[in-house]
Amino acid sequence: MNALLMHKKCVSICSTLLLGLALGVPAPTPASNPELLYPESLDPNLDVLHYDLRLDIDPGKNVLQGNATLELKTVRNTPAIQLDLLGLQVSEVLVNGQQATFQHTGQHLHIDLGQSSSVGRIYEVQVAYSGTPQTIKEPGETEADSVGWKQHKTGIYVLNEPNGAMSWFPANDHPSDKATFTFHLTVPLPDLGVANGVLVSTAGDRVKTYTYEMRQPMAPHLATVQVNRFRMEWQQFRENLVYQNYFPVSLPAKFQQKELGMFEPMLSFLEQQVAPYPFETYGVMFTEAPTPYALETQGLSTFPGKTREAALFFHELAHQWFGNSVTPSTWSDVWLSEGLATFFTNLWEHPEEKDLKVYLKSQYQRSKTQNIKAPYIRERKDLFSPRVYQRGALVFHALRYRVGNKLFQQVVQNYYRAHAFKNASTEDFIQSVLKTTGKPQLRGFLESWIYGDRLPDFPELSR
Ligand code: ARG
Ligand code: ZN
Repeated sequence: MNALLMHKKCVSICSTLLLGLALGVPAPTPASNPELLYPESLDPNLDVLHYDLRLDIDPGKNVLQGNATLELKTVRNTPAIQLDLLGLQVSEVLVNGQQATFQHTGQHLHIDLGQSSSVGRIYEVQVAYSGTPQTIKEPGETEADSVGWKQHKTGIYVLNEPNGAMSWFPANDHPSDKATFTFHLTVPLPDLGVANGVLVSTAGDRVKTYTYEMRQPMAPHLATVQVNRFRMEWQQFRENLVYQNYFPVSLPAKFQQKELGMFEPMLSFLEQQVAPYPFETYGVMFTEAPTPYALETQGLSTFPGKTREAALFFHELAHQWFGNSVTPSTWSDVWLSEGLATFFTNLWEHPEEKDLKVYLKSQYQRSKTQNIKAPYIRERKDLFSPRVYQRGALVFHALRYRVGNKLFQQVVQNYYRAHAFKNASTEDFIQSVLKTTGKPQLRGFLESWIYGDRLPDFPELSR
């Protein structure tokens, strides 16, 4: 929910960076947290509090009629705001019930707030829009790499990360601006409409409206919708936690094995290591699409149809704490969540210290031979690279060896507690380590692991 103050700061940081590079010294640590990868997707004047999305969906034609009501706050004095929406036609914008002037160019929907705008004021902004959603691609990327709202053989699915939210709703499409969500999905039978959160009502007869509420703050890239014919497993797992899985009916029945057997022990492992599960729902939703990866969509992870790998299942579950509850402040900080999800998957897969060490030796050696650079990234192309996963996880392994398992657990738990349901930057993590351990000398150690392209020594692995 907090927005970043970044534009002005970037000027001084960027020039320091260039100077550092020219002198051949290591890249400096960022003094503040500017968005280096997707600055165009963030309006720093804005804090969206709630999205209420009414989506009337024709899954066969892939046509969407949308009505989005945003409750938002201005965090600076500004006459206008900028939301992200690409490829759909906006027919009307209302601000506090009054018609507002707007301009829709490229991905930006500029909306005039009127003369009365001032800091800290709350607005209700309604956007009516429609069309066929276009997937979001980087120049040169194929359809398979694209993100956003997608159609496959039998329905609709959504994978937003990193900037696909703008393909289906007007958003301040940045991980630093988290908000609660209500989804009203209207779809024709026999399809079912599914979104993040708790199903609070269904209405209608042949065309049904399903209403879901995500009552914990969620970053736009974690929002999801699927429309398909699903077999569904649903159970009240415990008070305040519904466990639910969705399988497209067209997938062979053998894919519908019981996921619960995997879920229970993984959940208790993570709750013991970190904190109670943060959301009111969990489960997995499968797509039939040939998507090469899974995504930790909040409270309901999305998986490609044929995946049954326990490690991946664990990874997406771990993201519910790291990535979803504690969300990176900028895309450069994504190593915090990919690194921790990978780190905990490593612990889960290697419960014996001896085995873990053998595994880490090979990971360390691999990172060295492949010359994998710093986990803290500054360019889009590195977003889902081994830098954030492999070297990201090594930061936590190295720290665990350095301070011991007990203190390490406290570090992770304190870091989680301080930032749960909010955001955290790389510097927030460093601060958390220094505070919990009481060892300021760890700063240099952490910075070389996080910002250094050269892989630091890991002496413990050779013993
Ligand atoms: N965050 C996802 C995960 O690690 C991966 C997303 C990969 N996205 C992509 N566009 N390749 O679980
Ligand atoms: Zn991940």
